[in-house]
Amino acid sequence: MSGLLTVEGGTPLQGEITVRGAKNFVSKAMVASLLGEEASELRNVPQIRDVEVVANLLGLHGVLVEHDPQAGVISLDPRNVEAAHVADIDAYAGSSRIPILFCGPLLHRLGEAFIPDLGGCRIGDRPIDYHLNILRQFGAVVDKRVQGIHLSAPGGLRGTKIHLPYPSVGATEQTLLTAVRASGLTELSNAAIEPEIMDLIAVLQKMGAIISVDTDRTIRIEGVDRLDGFRHSALADRIEAGSWASAALATRGDVFVKGATQPEMMTFLNTFRKVGGAFDVREDGIRFWHPGGDLRSIVLETDVHPGFMTDWQQPLVVALTQANGLSIVHETVYENRFGFTDALRGMGATIQIYRECLGGLECRFGQRNFNHSAVISGPTPLRAADIEVPDLRGGFSHLIAALAAEGTSRVRGIDIINRGYENFMDKLEALGAKVSLAEAEGQVALV
Ligand code: EPZ
Repeated sequence: MSGLLTVEGGTPLQGEITVRGAKNFVSKAMVASLLGEEASELRNVPQIRDVEVVANLLGLHGVLVEHDPQAGVISLDPRNVEAAHVADIDAYAGSSRIPILFCGPLLHRLGEAFIPDLGGCRIGDRPIDYHLNILRQFGAVVDKRVQGIHLSAPGGLRGTKIHLPYPSVGATEQTLLTAVRASGLTELSNAAIEPEIMDLIAVLQKMGAIISVDTDRTIRIEGVDRLDGFRHSALADRIEAGSWASAALATRGDVFVKGATQPEMMTFLNTFRKVGGAFDVREDGIRFWHPGGDLRSIVLETDVHPGFMTDWQQPLVVALTQANGLSIVHETVYENRFGFTDALRGMGATIQIYRECLGGLECRFGQRNFNHSAVISGPTPLRAADIEVPDLRGGFSHLIAALAAEGTSRVRGIDIINRGYENFMDKLEALGAKVSLAEAEGQVALV
C-alpha cells in the first residue's frame, strides 16, 4: 500500500464491519506457544502487521508457523525451537515492542535470548526498565550490547516476589510468561488486569499453568515443570471497536461492529453515552450511532483497567471536537499522547494541551513538563488538510477527522494503520467512505 490516501469528507459512515481478535492479546498468545512442549492453535486472529511480525520472529526461532489469514487461524509448533541470528531478528522486530516478551520463554527453552532495540509507537519514552528488573529478579543475567540486549540464565529461573511501580501491561505479561516455568512461587503485586491479560492467563492455564488473581490485583503463579500446547479463540479487539464507534459519532453515522463485546467495553460505553452517542448491544456485536442533535462535552481521565483505556482516547477526541462546550482529557498512562492534536488544530479544531494534571487521578506526569492534559472546545467545523500519520491510534484519529471534515484531505503514512486495524480500507468502503488510494504520483485507484 503506497501510504497516501485521498479522503473526501462529509459523508456519514454507515453499515456493518467485523472486528476480530485483539491485537494486544494475539501477539502475546503467539509468544506463549514457545513455552509449550506441544503445538498450539489460535483462532479469531486478525490479519494485521503485528501478527506477521511475531509469526516471522517465531519462525526465526525454529517454530513451525502455519497461518490461514482468511480463516483467522494460526498453528504454532515449538518443538524445534533454536536461537535465531541477531541480524535476522532485527530485520523483523523493528516496528514492534513484542520481542521483549520472548525473553522468559527463550531463557526457559534455550538458556539464553537476544532482544534487539524495540520499536512501537512514539507516544512517550516507553522504557523497558520494569521488564529488565523483573528478569533479573528471576535470576537472569542481562547484558546490554550495541544492537540490543543479551540475556542468560546459567542457574535457571526461580520464582520471586515482584511489586510493579505502575500496573504495566507489558511488565505483567513479562512476569506471567517467565513465572509459569520458573521453579517455585512468584507473587506479582500492583499487576495490570486488562481483559487481554486475563485472556493470556486463560491460555497459560490451558497449557497447564497454575495462576490466581486476587481482588487486590496480586497475581500468584506456581511454576510447573511442563506446559502443553493450547487451543484458544482470541477475545475481540475492544480498541478497534471503540475506534469505529468514535468514527460513527464524529461523522454522524451509524455503524454495526460485528464481534464487539460489551463486558470489555463497559467504561467506553458509559462515556459514549455521556457524550450523546447511542448504542445497542446485540448477540453478535454492538451498533453505534449518532442519534442527531448536539454532542455533549465531558471530563475524561484515562487509566488502567477497568478505567477508560488510553487507546480509546485519540479517536474519541475527534468526536469531542464536535461536542458543545469544553471537554477535558487527562491522559495518565502515557506522557506524550496528544501529538496527534497538531493535525486536528490544522483542520480547525480548538484544542489546547497543558502540562498540568487536569483531573483527580494520581498521575506520574504532573509538573514534569509533559503535555498530558487537553482542553477541547467545540463544536468546530473541520476543514480538509494534508496530514501525516504520527502513530497507530493517532493515525486512525486523523482518518476519522478527514472523514468528518468538509473537503478532500490527503493522508500520508497510512501503512502504520495496518499494524492494528485489519483490512481498514475494505471496512471504510463497506461503510460508504469516499476514499481512494494513490498507486503512484498522479494515479489513483478507487477503493
Ligand atoms: C500495551 O503497551 C499496549 N501495547 C498499548 O497499546 C497500551 O496502550 C498499553 O499496554 C496500556 O494499556 C501492546 O499490548 C502491544 P505499559 P505496553 O507497559 O505494555 C511505563 C496500541 O496502540 N513503563 O502498560 O508497552 C510506560 O512508559 C498500544 O495498541 C515503564 O515506565 O504499556 C507507560 O507510561 C499503544 N517501564 C506505562 O508504563 C517499563 O518497563 C504503561 O505502559 C514498562 C512500561
